[in-house]
Amino acid sequence: MCGIVGYTGGREVCPILVDGLRRLEYRGYDSAGVAILSDERIEVCKATGKLSVLESVLIDNSPNGVLGIGHTRWATHGRPSDENAHPHSDCTGSIVVVHNGIIENYLPLKTQLIANGHKFVSETDTEVIAHLVEEAYQGDLAEAVRSTVLRLEGSFALAVICREQPDLIVAARRHSPLVVGLGENENFIASDVPAFLPYTKKVYFIDDDTLAIVKKSGVELRSLDGDPISKDVFEVTWNADMAERGGYEHFMLKEIHEQPTALRETMRGRLSSETADVTLEGLGLSHEDILKLNKIVMIACGTAYHAAMVGKYMIEGLVRIPVELDVASELRYRDPIIDNNTLALVISQSGETADTLAGMREAKRRGAKVLAITNVVGSSVAREADGVLYTYAGPEIAVASTKAYTTQLMVLSLVSLYLSRVRGTISTERDAQLRRALWYIPEQADLFLSEYQDIIGCADRYHNFAGFLYMGRGPNLASALEGALKIKEIAYIHAEGYAAGEMKHGPIAMIDPSMATVAIATKGRTYEKVLSNMQEVKARLGEIIAIASTHDTEIHSLADKVIHVPETEEMLSPILNALPLQLLAYYVAKFRGHEIDQPRNLAKSVTVE
Ligand code: AGP
Repeated sequence: MCGIVGYTGGREVCPILVDGLRRLEYRGYDSAGVAILSDERIEVCKATGKLSVLESVLIDNSPNGVLGIGHTRWATHGRPSDENAHPHSDCTGSIVVVHNGIIENYLPLKTQLIANGHKFVSETDTEVIAHLVEEAYQGDLAEAVRSTVLRLEGSFALAVICREQPDLIVAARRHSPLVVGLGENENFIASDVPAFLPYTKKVYFIDDDTLAIVKKSGVELRSLDGDPISKDVFEVTWNADMAERGGYEHFMLKEIHEQPTALRETMRGRLSSETADVTLEGLGLSHEDILKLNKIVMIACGTAYHAAMVGKYMIEGLVRIPVELDVASELRYRDPIIDNNTLALVISQSGETADTLAGMREAKRRGAKVLAITNVVGSSVAREADGVLYTYAGPEIAVASTKAYTTQLMVLSLVSLYLSRVRGTISTERDAQLRRALWYIPEQADLFLSEYQDIIGCADRYHNFAGFLYMGRGPNLASALEGALKIKEIAYIHAEGYAAGEMKHGPIAMIDPSMATVAIATKGRTYEKVLSNMQEVKARLGEIIAIASTHDTEIHSLADKVIHVPETEEMLSPILNALPLQLLAYYVAKFRGHEIDQPRNLAKSVTVE
């Protein structure tokens, strides 16, 4: 997630922009820049790396001025570099833009602009906006921006300044956050409130398809049809720390709640709601490559490994190619059978996990094609793979992985659908069923996250239990393992995830009133089997928390607590089932009074063996 800031008022703008960008650092970034209107010119200064690099450049030549925009870039299109850093300018340097989001139709727009004689200096989608505004500009910046955003498809929160109109910033948003800070004879725009919290607590939270025309004397809001919009001023009560977490107590809770948006952003441009298209830009596999595959080896660690488990279920079920699964630390040392008809599917949020990198390199050395699923553009995994599919979850700050996991499952669903089409192993009706179910996942996640008091009640009741047993079947065996990992890593309670069918082969010995069992029992092929396993637990006085499909009333006779989750296709259910498991772990840890975002002994990225 990039960060944008803007200021217009009576104070020197450069330090305000840099300070604002620093307050947005938690959003993660790989480059930064500012554009300042100074002596009738727009001075642009940008640098790859941390803000300190930009500041060292600004020390020598900090432009004077009272209006400007700034940006921290989380790369999505185009590697981290000075050229790709924002702000981006039009051909003349008179119009400059910063942007957070993804312009899905930037390539056809760029092609047309180049044909019209525009010169591009970056690989980014954002630069297209500057040249579109340049073409549309006829003396009214607000009108030029309005007509430009009407041509954009995808997500954006953008801000534009123009040398010929030195008294205003024009901002607009669709699907990416944008806020306006209302000061005394000065005004601000930003991706998030922390950027200007020291200066004002009066905020407009801008809605989709809204234009904000920001002058130091006042702010005017318009619809994209050009009609005026009136909006209540919101008085923020958060302090700066709380504001970085969007008002949530911990980054983990914020990131749990970001999942509907993260899922939508990860699906955007890849699954069409109008056509049957599944588009995987960056896949790195030709149809010929796909047709000659005889095996897929999945390589990952921790939560990413659990995502790989679901991926195995999806790919074998739809694509009918054998999928081998191994934690990377095992694969790299066991002399795996891999050749040039093998696809190594590498999953890593950070793209820097040592064992995963080593496993990937070993697979590559043995001749495999490598497809990576990662959340970090320019990461080692991304750079070394043959193809990369990004999860657009935005930076995941909490050590306990949440939105990265569910967006990895989203990408795996799309890959399975795509591969099954190329290999002709999916029927038209099954294809349509899955596409429809996948399309509604973000909305179902939103619905689930809108109210979950029952989970907090569960956490309160069970937070002092001696241990947890998580059981699931099919794709939800992975859910059981993931649920157990979550509660282990932040609540420090021993928890074990296992195949429910394994109950009689050992785990049943653990059942007693001090042990809580979490049964993932959403509707699917083995639903009745899981109910039987729950009866075995009940018979031994074990307490059960059931994760069940909405409207499932039968299960209430077996479980002490039931958490209902919207129903979807079984192979997609781990995406939604992850949500209650994440929240249960979070609130158990909270009741136990633990530090949640940075749990003991753990690092966000395990870059050593
Ligand atoms: C999960 O909550 C943990 N943070 C950990 O298991 C993590 O998933 C694992 O270290 C893999 O990290 P990666 O996805 O960045 O490779």
